[in-house]
Amino acid sequence: MIDDIQRIDALRSELHRHNHNYYVLNAPEIDDREFDMLMKELERLEALHPEHADPNSPTRRVGSDISSGFIQHKHIYPMLSLANTYSIGEVDEWVSRTDDALAGQKTEIVGELKFDGLGISLVYEHGRLVRAVTRGDGEKGDVVTDNIRTIRSIPLQLQGTGWPDFFEIRGEVLLPRSAFERLNAEREAEGEPPFANPRNAASGTLKLLNPAIVAHRGLDAYLYYLLGDNLPYDNHYDNMVAARSWGFKVSEAMTVLHSIEEVDAYIRHWDTARRDLPVATDGLVFKVNSLRQQLNLGFTAKSPRWAVAYKFAAERALTRLRFVSFDVGRMGIITPVANLEPVQLSGTVVKRASMHNDDIMRALDIHEGDMLYVEKGGEIIPKITGVDTEARLPGARPVEFVSHCPACGTPLVRVEGEAAWICPNKEGCVPQIVGRIEHFVGRHMMNIDGIGEETAAALFTHGFVRNVADLYSLTAQQLATIEGFAAKSAQRVIDGIEASKTVPFERVVFALSIPYVGETTARKVARAAGSMERLMAMSPAELEAIEDVGPRIAQTTAAFFADDENRVMIQRLAEAGVRMAVEEDASAAPVSDTLAGKSFVISGVFARHSREEYKALIERHGGKNVGSISKKTDYVLAGDNMGPAKLEKAQKLGIPIIDENQFLGMIGEQ
Ligand code: IVH
Repeated sequence: MIDDIQRIDALRSELHRHNHNYYVLNAPEIDDREFDMLMKELERLEALHPEHADPNSPTRRVGSDISSGFIQHKHIYPMLSLANTYSIGEVDEWVSRTDDALAGQKTEIVGELKFDGLGISLVYEHGRLVRAVTRGDGEKGDVVTDNIRTIRSIPLQLQGTGWPDFFEIRGEVLLPRSAFERLNAEREAEGEPPFANPRNAASGTLKLLNPAIVAHRGLDAYLYYLLGDNLPYDNHYDNMVAARSWGFKVSEAMTVLHSIEEVDAYIRHWDTARRDLPVATDGLVFKVNSLRQQLNLGFTAKSPRWAVAYKFAAERALTRLRFVSFDVGRMGIITPVANLEPVQLSGTVVKRASMHNDDIMRALDIHEGDMLYVEKGGEIIPKITGVDTEARLPGARPVEFVSHCPACGTPLVRVEGEAAWICPNKEGCVPQIVGRIEHFVGRHMMNIDGIGEETAAALFTHGFVRNVADLYSLTAQQLATIEGFAAKSAQRVIDGIEASKTVPFERVVFALSIPYVGETTARKVARAAGSMERLMAMSPAELEAIEDVGPRIAQTTAAFFADDENRVMIQRLAEAGVRMAVEEDASAAPVSDTLAGKSFVISGVFARHSREEYKALIERHGGKNVGSISKKTDYVLAGDNMGPAKLEKAQKLGIPIIDENQFLGMIGEQ
């Protein structure tokens, strides 16, 4: 028994050390298998001795499935921002200003990378992580300790010696480029929208309520600011080096600079070298090294005078336009795309960049063979930002927007008051048909696995599927005739089609590709109508009475259901057994016991579901609804305009207040 406890402690410290070797030092001493064996042994012993549990045990890194809402916490020291500069000259001015303010004392400047992630504050007591809080509004932020615990480069238990009993350390949580690309590939494969850049992905991840999903995403963290009363050194640099020895990831790019010349050389170096970093940076940060001098310089209302940020110029490349192509989307919208001579930009090769619509393309005034400036919005999605008119070829003609659909030749139409040109040939234009099939089978729609863009196109060209209703008469034999389609995957598709007949009516409405009707609107329209029959009979005025439906959606929705081809398609879907009404009984049937033993108080007004629906969801997932807040309440599900008395009571009792997105995340409906 005693032996077990000793072994648990030994394993914990050994695993902490291996994590640090692997995730911070990049120098593992043991291989993955040995690591897993130690971890398994620890898990087994911990299961035998629940009384010796520890939230900071390495076993907790994998994230438990227990979800919790976020409570807010006031920062001990407010989290301020930094003054920005955009040129070497401006940084030099800041150096001179601080020199002047310090009346000619010798000043050292620490140069650092400015990581482009999310600011985080970590609090350690007696060498153990006790709380992690997001920047929030600078005064208070969300407590995200459970999610932060899954980040393997953040020590849960400090190593080495010399840390203050109580201190705070700040840094940036981010998603390395490789993890970002993997995550987006996964999302696209599942029909989910990709994140625009690693920062958005990191921020979305940190706010997830399920730490197990967070653990899977591969967040990382760099630390850059130590705060507390008993710091070991009187300067920033040495304190950060000490923090590194306690197990924190402190960037090796941090350097002490002794003169303006060294500062300038640091900027010139990182202006290009940052492209090879595994994580996104948006600039550099310069800090006065001496803590005494920092104190003398002090703060303005928004930022410290002892530090300044230098922002990198948006990365831009100049390359030649080969030709402009015009993409046709599933709704028939035509998007102009610049096809470019391949060019390197922020670590990837860019060959195509969207110009969004006719108005934007005209404003750029693009001519054939022009040299174009390409930038990466948020470092990821390339866009054309300008033309080098001096490099224009003599006699080059302006590029015109097409007048006919590039896929089917139909004359394009432009909707009054909108920038988009549309191909009206809904039933005969291949990319539109294929796009609608792809949308229909998507994960948030009918969730039919195994049909990607290529298969959707092949189904159409083989004459098997002309509109989505044809999917329900598809056979495994037909699928097997498509090149590269194994019998096993054919059966998987057929099974998926069969299973899609139980998909709720709300998602069927979304799957239909009604113009401008996204997931939320589809849900609201479906619930308000209750059935397809009723929905098809609704007038624009009746539709407009539904929450979230404006005149435009009302018009296009009514027109969609008035179209004969659409009516026939829906009739055939109904005959195939696809759900055509909200399921009355299903709304009461239990779905899971995710919320078993948890009690909720609902307060305020919600956007995604009604209060009644939230009550039903809580019960269907095993939870309990209670009327008023008490010590026993586990969560307050708060919408807009939550009553101030309730808010105060919940805060006083420390009950997590969650919003509807967080709640839906808890029950896996995000
Ligand atoms: S120091 C009082 N150092 O940039 C100032 N911030 O624009 C403390 N950031 O809120 C911040 N890298 O989230 C500091 N090396 C670095 C940084 C850094 C990124 C972020 C941080 C801050 C924001 C200010």
